[in-house]
Amino acid sequence: MNRQDNKGIFITFEGIDGCGKSSQTDLAAEYLESRGIDFIKTRDPGGTALGSKIREILLNYEGHIASMSELFLYLADRAQHVEEKILPALSEGKVVLCDRYVDSTIAYQGYARGLDKQQILDLNSIVAYGLMPDLTFVFDITPEVACSRLGEKKDRLEAECSEFHKKVREGFLDLAGKDPGRIKVIDAGRGIGAISEDVISILKTRLSC
Ligand SMILES: Nc1ncnc2c1ncn2[C@@H]1O[C@H](COP(=O)(O)OP(=O)(O)O)[C@@H](O)[C@H]1O
Ligand SMILES: [Mg+2]
Repeated sequence: MNRQDNKGIFITFEGIDGCGKSSQTDLAAEYLESRGIDFIKTRDPGGTALGSKIREILLNYEGHIASMSELFLYLADRAQHVEEKILPALSEGKVVLCDRYVDSTIAYQGYARGLDKQQILDLNSIVAYGLMPDLTFVFDITPEVACSRLGEKKDRLEAECSEFHKKVREGFLDLAGKDPGRIKVIDAGRGIGAISEDVISILKTRLSC
């Protein structure tokens, strides 16, 4: 299984918790559906049955998780997700919409937790058979606004202090600055409809739909 088998297009949705990734992934899916485009919508972590169990640990474990353990839990999830779901869909020519992927790992585990960013990329490349997204949306928003959207329903990661999310946000912006061809930064401090219009306009261009 490798990247050369792919005929589909791999699109990822990134940004801090509460920026609107899930909402925008859903709206992008609705749009592709309306255009009759063959796609799957999935999420990282938790895109497979095994991944759901790993996601449960990552979001709700109440004890301390060492940064390296956290990284490898995400990577274990990703290995399963890429092999079981993403690569097969791409090889069938489908568009894959994925809520979070490698940029989240670099932003959270690298920029915010302080693990080596190149090492994360190298490990990711191993577990993901070298699979990188063709197109990535980063929904950019201040941690304060994102936090106010989430209200009281915060999981283990969402409950991290806003200093942490500031580092994550800067990480995403830095990654986007280094790879502007792949990563599109969208101002996510606006209404859901305006953000979705920007996303769909980029999708129209990339997918000719
Ligand atoms: N542009 C927006 N303006 C106001 N509220 C939003 C916007 N986008 C999403 N929301 C709301 O904010 C919360 C978090 O959105 P969600 O899409 O789940 O974000 P994420 O998946 O990035 O954590 C949800 O309650 C959602 O309905
Ligand atoms: Mg979400």
